[in-house]
Amino acid sequence: MKIMTIVGARPNFMKAAPIIAAINAHNRKIRKDTAAEGHGTAVQLQHALVHTGQHYDEIMSGSFFSDLGLPKPDVHLGIGSGTHAAQTAEIMKKYEEIVMTEKPHVVIVVGDVNSTMACALVTSKVSFDSVGTRPLIAHVEAGLRSFDRTMPEEINRIVTDHVSDLLFVTEESGLTNLNREGISPEIIHFVGNTMIDSLLAFKGKADSSTKLDELGLRSQPGQNGESKKVARYALLTLHRPANVDNRDSLQNIFAGLQELGKDCPIIFPVHPRTQKRIREFGMNLDANENADNLPCAPQESRGGIILTDPLGYLDFLCLMKNTSIVVTDSGGIQEETTCLGIPCVTVRDNTERPVTVEKGTNIIAGTSREGIRAAIRTQSQRKARVSVPLHWDGKAATRIVEVLVRVAANQKRSLRSAGV
Ligand code: UD1
Repeated sequence: MKIMTIVGARPNFMKAAPIIAAINAHNRKIRKDTAAEGHGTAVQLQHALVHTGQHYDEIMSGSFFSDLGLPKPDVHLGIGSGTHAAQTAEIMKKYEEIVMTEKPHVVIVVGDVNSTMACALVTSKVSFDSVGTRPLIAHVEAGLRSFDRTMPEEINRIVTDHVSDLLFVTEESGLTNLNREGISPEIIHFVGNTMIDSLLAFKGKADSSTKLDELGLRSQPGQNGESKKVARYALLTLHRPANVDNRDSLQNIFAGLQELGKDCPIIFPVHPRTQKRIREFGMNLDANENADNLPCAPQESRGGIILTDPLGYLDFLCLMKNTSIVVTDSGGIQEETTCLGIPCVTVRDNTERPVTVEKGTNIIAGTSREGIRAAIRTQSQRKARVSVPLHWDGKAATRIVEVLVRVAANQKRSLRSAGV
């Protein structure tokens, strides 16, 4: 069986990496069993990785491949940035050629970015022959809904789920949402979260990051030989257009962070979109300085906010593991902090990941300065609590591959019984 996995933007890489690892592990096992038994009946999986190039900077893409041990993409579409329509259309045009040439049996799309929807849509309409044979579409992270259609990701989620043939769900709300939308339960599989597979696999390795030292967040060893301690700090990420593309919204968020910034340094790895906006708006993050020479070294930080370039996977994971609190508008970070037991304040009005609030450590703060300040106060007093959602156990990708192998075996059987 030929499987093709699509990645395009930063949050895709850590969701796809464990699936590729699980495919390789499956093939290794088959080879071993075949060698031991002298024959093999199980399905070997061929794999190809396609990178659309939606994210293209080394720090938004390349470094994730090395951190996560991802193979070099077999195909790179080199799309780059653009309006939603231009970006989506370019991916569709180029990907259609690839899928028609390669003719995979299964196309795996992950998450909710434009690349996810574009490739799912293409695959749903191609036809390899006169009877309409096309690949199965498997959507990893299906069923999440924010119920906010102003988010481009919500449109991507809905479209992708409704054209897919296999839906791999990360949390129970996904089952409820897909059920409510009338999707057949037979194609839905509650497997867990492949982003958490990566987190658990790389949590230990993240300790080798030197970021805490580079940012001056570790105290020097004491004279009596006691080891270095990590200082108290907060971690901030902001990249949603609704938060960063408008001057007042961004200003409000920074105002909501002021109190926290007096209490401890706030490390802020700045997404390229946000860097651009901060520059464009000529914003001051401190009364005395202009933020016009971003990215800047930590020593040049303003007020309590320490600006850095975006970070690689292991460096960010290291900062997330050791922080006292995270303030974010990301989707995935709400899940990762839940798993790590780190208090998280989400600067949005909703979440498509309600389990992070119900079971995890997340608070939806809204985007007003008062709301953010209040949520930070609550979270700063929160006692450590780790309650990991069902199936977030590092085995989601293995479950996905098991389903794919079952599907392949069934297809083989039905072809045989049809005499093909
Ligand atoms: C995309 C996803 C979003 C995801 C986010 C993670 C969609 C609709 N959005 O948003 O769901 O949470 O990725 O980062 O798919 N840029 C660079 N270098 C890069 C990539 C982007 O400088 O490697 C800059 C460009 O100026 C670009 C802007 O960032 O115009 C936005 O990039 P884009 O891919 O359009 O969306 P994101 O905001 O990154």
